[in-house]
Amino acid sequence: MKSIVLKDNYDLENVSIEEKPIPKIWENEILVKVRSVSFNQLDLMIAKGALKTNLPHILGSDAVGIVEKIGSAVSLFQIGDIVSTHFIQDWQSGDLQPLYLKNRLGVTAQGVFSEYIALPENSLIKIPANLNTEEASTLPIAGLTAWEAIVNTGKLKPEQTVLLQGTGGVSIFALQFAKMLGAKVIITSGSNEKLQMAKRLGADEVINYLEIPDWQNKVLELTNGNGANLALEMSWADIGKTTDAMKLGGKIVVVGLLGGANAHLSVFGIMQKNLSIVGIQVGSKSSFEAMNKAIETNHIKPVVDKKFDIHALSEALYYFEKGKHFGKVVVNF
Ligand SMILES: NC(=O)c1ccc[n+]([C@@H]2O[C@H](COP(=O)([O-])OP(=O)(O)OC[C@H]3O[C@@H](n4cnc5c(N)ncnc54)[C@H](OP(=O)(O)O)[C@@H]3O)[C@@H](O)[C@H]2O)c1
Repeated sequence: MKSIVLKDNYDLENVSIEEKPIPKIWENEILVKVRSVSFNQLDLMIAKGALKTNLPHILGSDAVGIVEKIGSAVSLFQIGDIVSTHFIQDWQSGDLQPLYLKNRLGVTAQGVFSEYIALPENSLIKIPANLNTEEASTLPIAGLTAWEAIVNTGKLKPEQTVLLQGTGGVSIFALQFAKMLGAKVIITSGSNEKLQMAKRLGADEVINYLEIPDWQNKVLELTNGNGANLALEMSWADIGKTTDAMKLGGKIVVVGLLGGANAHLSVFGIMQKNLSIVGIQVGSKSSFEAMNKAIETNHIKPVVDKKFDIHALSEALYYFEKGKHFGKVVVNF
């Protein structure tokens, strides 16, 4: 079978397709024939050595495929079911516990970018009935992170305003979930073309952060001087601008660090506005189930920017790295 492997050194040029044996399953495991996978920034970070992952390493956290074989103790799935991976495998419900972090697909465990994967049944989840495998492959990290940020941690309410940064996988899901809740969305991007696409998806206000570097003032202007109730921080380098863009008592959910790990953060900016700043790490399986139900009920379709065949792996990786995408990038096995 084919696997996408980071072989003996870090960087994208060392990612290749390798032949490996089809894994055997234990009695509580399921063999899945993978159809579609999707890329995350995490895959790039691992490929570039940011997490000093042991090599060789099979990349990937997001995969969807068909159940091909089930172990004798499996009760939740049947052959032919279409299932998705669940990233933090042991986080089934409740609060995140330190122990759960020892087992994250594609990070502390081998990844799922393979033609076949063998996983315990608890690490898998049925996909929403209204999605195909390409659409569903975008859910395990980007979809669930956006759900966690908007619904569970952000507790966004109808008529409230959320500030979203960039038009990548997490932000576009967050836009769709925020509109589902009846909230107002202000979204930023470095591309006017992408901002028009965000408008077509329901964004209420758009700001080009390259044309308006002090975009925090624009957010205040667009909210009658009040600021946003909730923001999803994607840059971290710009967290100071985000705090300026917030309403009194607002919440910033820290999702990413696209601008780098260092930032200037004024303690007065936080105290004087009674701000909450909270980090998240994707979400639990019970949140994944709740998200899938909402996706079905509200007929939400994940935005797949571009799909590639596995033979165009290198083209797909570099396309994703350049950040030209709007939403998600998918590869089909
Ligand atoms: N905490 C978690 O559990 C979790 C889960 C998933 C992702 N993340 C992190 O969240 C971030 C976004 O992930 P993603 O999957 O949505 O990435 P993505 O699909 O690659 O999207 C990134 C987009 O963000 C915009 N962008 C780039 N640099 C930026 C900056 N400095 N400030 C603001 N926007 C910028 C660009 O959009 P435009 O072209 O429109 O400007 C870019 O296309 C990454 O840092 C990722 O590692 C964290």
